Amino acid sequence: MSKGSTSNDWLQRQKKDPYVKQAQQSHYRSRAIYKLQEIDQKDKLIKPNSCVVDLGSAPGSWSQYASEKVKSRGRIISVDILPMEPIERVLFVLGDFTDETVENECLGHIGKQGADLVISDMAPNLTGIRVTDQARSMAMAELIYEFCHQALKPGGDLLIKLFEGAGTEQYRKLLKERFTSIMTRKPGASRDESREFYVLARSYRL
Ligand SMILES: C[S@@+](CC[C@H](N)C(=O)[O-])C[C@H]1O[C@@H](n2cnc3c(N)ncnc32)[C@H](O)[C@@H]1O
Repeated sequence: MSKGSTSNDWLQRQKKDPYVKQAQQSHYRSRAIYKLQEIDQKDKLIKPNSCVVDLGSAPGSWSQYASEKVKSRGRIISVDILPMEPIERVLFVLGDFTDETVENECLGHIGKQGADLVISDMAPNLTGIRVTDQARSMAMAELIYEFCHQALKPGGDLLIKLFEGAGTEQYRKLLKERFTSIMTRKPGASRDESREFYVLARSYRL
């Protein structure tokens, strides 16, 4: 729920939301699935046999989708500060990604061969103070960029959720230093009134 909206507003919106209904009728755990699915269908991100890292994975719809797409020889390393019910082919790390030991645990599971794709739907807890929230979100994004240097194999991709506001243009410039192409995605399931959008950075280079 975004700051400024009441829990009643949120409930009303949930009731009318076609993506909530669709998710409830499916085996997916969250309406967030339709954001990743739309991007993946357009950009062909998740391939069979690949290694995917899912940052901020709970309750798990992105991990469910990725698990289905990588098929039997692929694997997913997922991390969240909240617990997540098990999913086939998903190795789950419980902890705060900003904690270095948690980040290192993820890197250990990825191994030397590196990951093909990092996906992040993480959003720091909102304080309601826009400047603070934006600064926290961008600090998290920078941490994820740094993580990519250790986690991604050459040619790997990053899909990351950002929020419109200060720092996003500079972040794109940063990504351009190590990724071949940078694209913006705003899937249909991402509410128009939400400042969230996704950046897809493709083909990581050393
Ligand atoms: C929008 S939800 C992700 C939904 C998920 N993509 C799905 O499909 O089910 C964002 C998640 O990020 C997690 N998160 C936020 N900050 C985190 C942090 N510092 N470390 C780990 N997880 C974090 C939250 O606990 C929350 O579960």
